[in-house]
Amino acid sequence: MIKSTLKINGVEKVVVARAGDSLAEVLREQLGLTGVKVGCGEGQCGSCNVIVDGKLVRSCVTKMSKVAEGASITTIEGIGTPDNLHAIQAAWVAHGGAQCGFCSPGFIVSSKALLDQNPEPTREQVKDWFQSHRNACRCTGYKPLVDAVMDAAKVMLGKMNVGDLEYKAPKDGQIWGSKYPRPSAVAKVTGTLDYGADLGLKLPPGTLRLALVQAKVSHANIRGIDTSEAQKMPGVYKIVTHKDVKGKNRISGLITFPTNKGDGWDRPILCDTKVYQFGDAIAIVCADTEQNARAAAEKVKVDLEALPAYMSAPEAMAQDAMEIHPGTPNVYFEIPIAKGEDTKPLMDSAAHVAEGEYYLQRQPHLTMEPDVGLAYFDDEERLTIHSKSIGLHLHHAMIAPGLGIEPEKLRLVQNPAGGTFGYKFSPTMEALLGVACMATGRPVSLRYNYYQHITYTGKRSPFWMKLKYGADKDGKITAMESDWSVDHGPYSEFGDLLTLRGAQFIGAGYGIPNIRGKGRTVCTNHAWGSAFRAYGSPQSFLASESLIDELAAKMKVDPFELRARNIYRQGDTTPTSQAPEVYCFPEMIDKLRPLYKAAKEKARKESTPEVKKGVGISLGIYGCGLDGPDSSEAWLELTKDGVTVASTWEDHGQGADMGALGTAHKGLSPLGIRPEQIRLVMNDTALAPNSGPAGGSRSQVVTGNAIKNGCELLLAAMRKKDGSYRTYDEMVAEKIPLRYSGKWTASMNSACDLQTSQGSPFAVYMYGLFMAEVAVNTKNGKTTVEGFTVIADVGSINNRLVVDGQIYGGVAQGIGLALTEDFEKLDKHTSLLACGIPYAKDIPDKFDIHYVETPRENGPFGAAGVGELPLTSSHVAVINGICDATGVRIRKLPALPEKVLEGLKALK
Ligand code: FES
Ligand code: FES
Repeated sequence: MIKSTLKINGVEKVVVARAGDSLAEVLREQLGLTGVKVGCGEGQCGSCNVIVDGKLVRSCVTKMSKVAEGASITTIEGIGTPDNLHAIQAAWVAHGGAQCGFCSPGFIVSSKALLDQNPEPTREQVKDWFQSHRNACRCTGYKPLVDAVMDAAKVMLGKMNVGDLEYKAPKDGQIWGSKYPRPSAVAKVTGTLDYGADLGLKLPPGTLRLALVQAKVSHANIRGIDTSEAQKMPGVYKIVTHKDVKGKNRISGLITFPTNKGDGWDRPILCDTKVYQFGDAIAIVCADTEQNARAAAEKVKVDLEALPAYMSAPEAMAQDAMEIHPGTPNVYFEIPIAKGEDTKPLMDSAAHVAEGEYYLQRQPHLTMEPDVGLAYFDDEERLTIHSKSIGLHLHHAMIAPGLGIEPEKLRLVQNPAGGTFGYKFSPTMEALLGVACMATGRPVSLRYNYYQHITYTGKRSPFWMKLKYGADKDGKITAMESDWSVDHGPYSEFGDLLTLRGAQFIGAGYGIPNIRGKGRTVCTNHAWGSAFRAYGSPQSFLASESLIDELAAKMKVDPFELRARNIYRQGDTTPTSQAPEVYCFPEMIDKLRPLYKAAKEKARKESTPEVKKGVGISLGIYGCGLDGPDSSEAWLELTKDGVTVASTWEDHGQGADMGALGTAHKGLSPLGIRPEQIRLVMNDTALAPNSGPAGGSRSQVVTGNAIKNGCELLLAAMRKKDGSYRTYDEMVAEKIPLRYSGKWTASMNSACDLQTSQGSPFAVYMYGLFMAEVAVNTKNGKTTVEGFTVIADVGSINNRLVVDGQIYGGVAQGIGLALTEDFEKLDKHTSLLACGIPYAKDIPDKFDIHYVETPRENGPFGAAGVGELPLTSSHVAVINGICDATGVRIRKLPALPEKVLEGLKALK
């Protein structure tokens, strides 16, 4: 132990700590400064930044023994408070710098350190600073953060008033379409918002800390589990195995389609007979401290019989491969697509034919916050599980039978989430927390470190695809043949639905009249497939948006003009024969054309033999909703002070609070109430109704419509004969109910037919065009994206900060997907850095978004969703840009420098 006197946020403190503990642990766990966030815990993200004696320091990798006696330490708590924001914090709020907000304290502390030593940096210097100090953000695409620092610098230099950064309400008081900051922004930028790990630290004494015993192999039979030695370790309260699970000990994958050959009960909560993938949970150690729990977990002995591990779809599909789940074939779901006429004769007679094979990799989500949760019995004896769930009611149904608990005795709550991007569409640790809490009767908390977070949460499922286009002499695509195999890992959850996405989005955007193809879901032993932003479409568009460029090259026409010839126009239908709800592409393509021409000209002028420049484009589409008649519910209640709005519009960090507030404020605008008078009750199954999961960009459309409906019902009840509205007191006096349940169902949809994939699955779609300006270094093969342009039609816009932010962040993930990101090697891809997360300088600062706002008939106040759109095909724009620059076509992502070099060599 060491004793030091430190000056923390200006106050002298005596600190007694273990020399080997990190500064982050001491600040958070001993001093309660939970504004200091721990993301990677490995010095790769900067979430834990503090300033020590004027120097920016990553506190997670700074041992207490290295902190000098008398050191002066500034954490986010010492920079500004909710009532007195520092200029940097105010600028962060104004620019939408805090999406999930988990990285915000670390970035703000970092910016403070920068501005203290360089009060007037250039944008480039700000990016250099973030890059060299390894500040990572997964949500914002960095541009809004640079904008914030530039404005903060102006304020600090007296060139701008901090008041200029504050939101100014327009005269009519409307916030719809404005840059009104999200309600959680101030808490995020001041470090006062408690995420799961922060709440876990603040649980009452007696809380048990959990650690998992996990499989270190990918496929094995379990012969025995010996906990005897571990049981004797210090601080151990109980070791929980499958024998302690009261229910079925399975998480239901909720089979979506009857043609699925599995039954969905394939994922153990705690492994009993088999290990299906690396990291599978075999036992839970419950102890007094996390350290003791982890130490004891190391002592649990698991006797395994190794089995062959199938780490890709082709391996698991091989003739001699054993069934991973005995009794269910490894190919457990198939979906054909058949639109229009048979394609074979059309291909034979086509003037132009192009075909290709493509592979999209297992993209990791790389949220800044690792997975985390806690559980306890509430005062109504309900098992209450807090997690990052973005599908509270969905997960309720998936885990209750496995736990063996009555549904009404299970309550799920979402903690503020430091990013999910879809991985939390899967239950991760919810059932593990539930089992441990039920087995011990004590509050419990569980925190994955970043290694566990990467290796034991779901990933984007790789697609192996073959695609062929046949076109007439003018380049109009008349026929398409497709084939795709989905590596979905060992657990079936929604794998069938994902496979259907291939039918819905391969070739989407073009009115191709004749399509034949087939997709299949394959069980493997690699990481289980979970939702990831734009679910199934980045894979689909890699094939169809690469191949259209390949067709253009064969025809010797410009790929831009070939797209212009094929985009949806009146009379065209989607691959599932649905008429698009709006035909916005012609206007969008006209908007992009001059920008494309200018970019091409610039690239041509700047290209040199060493650095070749090019321009790539792509088109992307995604539906807003779950297939078929998706529905949602929300309630509104008139209160003395305003209106309460309750929903389970879960937040990945995208801005669910702002979505709900903006929609409700618009719906209630006849009352003239201010946004501050609307109170949000969110994301607790005991308090809010079932609004469905926050996935598939459905929330703004489906839950937005439910909120709008609730507003209408409330207004109707409040309306007097003369058209004015009753007050709260008048409603009470007249005994008129105060609470109204808003509901909405996409009854205009029809689910896709399982033999042909034909149907009208979504009421509303989002449309985008993407343009990447890339530079390829021909010496080392490295690709840099120098500029990015998005033309988006996401309907009428609820909140501009949120929508811009979604697009910046989604495209940044697309650039990562194109160039660096992967989770393939279990011994290599185990950190943010190794998985290829883009840092500030990997994302261009020249980043423009243009909107075409076509109101959607079925969107609330005309709005579509937005979150998925930017990751539908932004990666393909980059891949097409590489080809435009160099002639190298990358068909297997990511386009790592060595692959580009190999391509360049092959061309020679
Ligand atoms: S750098 Fe410390 S948590 Fe990531
Ligand atoms: S806002 Fe930066 S990681 Fe979410």
